[in-house]
Amino acid sequence: MGYDTTARIVHWTVALLVILMIPAGLVMTSGVDRSLQNVLFAFHKSVGTILLLLIAFRIIWRLTHPVSPLPASVGAMQRLAAHATHFGLYFFLIVMTVSGYVRVTTGGFPIELFDALGIPPLFPRSEAVANTAKSIHAVAKYGLVLLIVMHVGAAVFHGLLLRDGVFSRMWPPFRRDSR
Ligand code: HEM
Repeated sequence: MGYDTTARIVHWTVALLVILMIPAGLVMTSGVDRSLQNVLFAFHKSVGTILLLLIAFRIIWRLTHPVSPLPASVGAMQRLAAHATHFGLYFFLIVMTVSGYVRVTTGGFPIELFDALGIPPLFPRSEAVANTAKSIHAVAKYGLVLLIVMHVGAAVFHGLLLRDGVFSRMWPPFRRDSR
């Protein structure tokens, strides 16, 4: 029951990468040693752009692969809260990855991994666009962190306290019936 193996693998990969991206972003902008900053920037921009692709894939997969309904024990208000949180997570993940990508490319900075692969930037240089994207990136992180805290809180509540089967809709990363 629950999500198929593809959705689970992408979910846990995105979760792991986002959890690394947040401290990387905070540390690299906090005036650390230059060589550490360079490594973190290269990691943040390259992994962030991979995340953008993964999240786009995730949304397409979710829209084309219906999921079995939540257990009947989950009330209407809880369902609404869950759907709102999930929608918000997708929204802020898109805003974070797109604003980051736009900020870097319109600012004329490299995305090391994609440059090495010969993939050119999608947008031309523009200082005004880069500054707007930078502000959006800095503000949206609060929304994303708030929703992650709510999401993890709900997962722990269902998985450890209620044990009602909601957590096992997404865990383990490989579905036991191999679908
Ligand atoms: C889910 C994905 C992402 C998360 C969670 C994330 C998170 C963060 C955080 C927390 C900061 C620190 C901002 C601050 O404290 O003001 C930051 C900064 C930054 N991020 Fe991201 N980021 C993501 C995606 C990206 C992507 C895809 C790129 C570029 C390809 C990017 C480029 C940058 C840059 C350049 C900064 C430094 C701030 C600036 O000068 O613009 N980020 N990010």
